[in-house]
Amino acid sequence: MSALDAIATYADDLTAIRRDLHAHPELGLEEVRTAGIVAEKLKSWGIEVHTGVGRTGVVGVLRRGTGGPAIGLRADMDALPMEEETNLPYRSTNPGRMHACGHDGHTTMLLGAARYLAEHGDFNGTVNFIFQPGEEGVGGALAMLEDGLFERFPCDAIYAMHNRPGMPVGQFCIGKGPSAAGGAFFDITITGKGSHGARPEGSIDPLLTACHITTALQSIVSRNVPPADTAVLSVTKIVGGDAYNVIPQTAIISGTCRAFRKEVMAQMEEGMKRVAKGVAEGFGATATVDFRLIFAPLVNDPDHTDAIADAAAALVGEAKVDRNKAPGMGSEDFSFMMEKVPGAYIQVGNGDTAMPHNPAYNFSDEATPYGAALFATLVERRLAK
Ligand code: NI
Repeated sequence: MSALDAIATYADDLTAIRRDLHAHPELGLEEVRTAGIVAEKLKSWGIEVHTGVGRTGVVGVLRRGTGGPAIGLRADMDALPMEEETNLPYRSTNPGRMHACGHDGHTTMLLGAARYLAEHGDFNGTVNFIFQPGEEGVGGALAMLEDGLFERFPCDAIYAMHNRPGMPVGQFCIGKGPSAAGGAFFDITITGKGSHGARPEGSIDPLLTACHITTALQSIVSRNVPPADTAVLSVTKIVGGDAYNVIPQTAIISGTCRAFRKEVMAQMEEGMKRVAKGVAEGFGATATVDFRLIFAPLVNDPDHTDAIADAAAALVGEAKVDRNKAPGMGSEDFSFMMEKVPGAYIQVGNGDTAMPHNPAYNFSDEATPYGAALFATLVERRLAK
């Protein structure tokens, strides 16, 4: 029986797990309930479990034969701080929390693979099932790394998967090299001088300064970054002032930068500091820039990309595997793990659904057996006896 057929026999169990996680979303690094369920399921299948790895992270270890080479399979567990707008019977029961990126599905797919490998796995080596907290920009991958993830659970290769709306269920896509952008968040604090709204001459207006800085920031990508490089600089939030008749003391500009190369990210940071300080000074205000790298660029190792794409082709046929996916500007903190251990990150079709981070999004349960079977097949091929 193939991994896909074997997993199909308990697909209903996986759907039940996924819908339960969907109904109880937890924010990054707060996944206490989710981690508890993961640990309990892994234990019930006889897998060695380590909890509290990087706050709420969980690692399951499964050894066969000599324990030889080790593969790490990683799923993310966290939800987003947003309100769900679906009428699903299992919609979020936590106000302001939603599994809008399908991490409920990712967790379930990895559980499905763990169960298969524990019950049927025919391999020689070690599989580390890495259930990561806090992928959505709150440092979950780094938290696990700082907690000694790869020292405690050494891996020769690591793999992860994300669902992809718009691609049919049962299909996969992946590309070699830079695959998802590195991402930074920034806050620029402008300090002026408050005054009565009717007496602007007594103020140094931080709001007007913020508007000019926001406009000037647009020159960084268009004038400083080499045209052959890809970069995004988006101001997404300007906060300042509380009243109609008060010019405030301060304003804050916030947003995100994305790039495929670290050097380009550094160039945007440097340009932002120069522009913010220079423009603020021109208005008599001051500006301080807090620039935080949240995601490294995600770079797929060529050999491991072939390995997981080959496993996918063995599962669903070559025609349903796109090996030339174009890089996307989204970010993914699995990149920090792949800076330490070579690996690859593949996408699994989620069918015709809303896009991730949309309040109408939902993970497709039909995709779960494919993702689970891909991980399982990959292990049996890479750790063949
Ligand atoms: Ni995601």
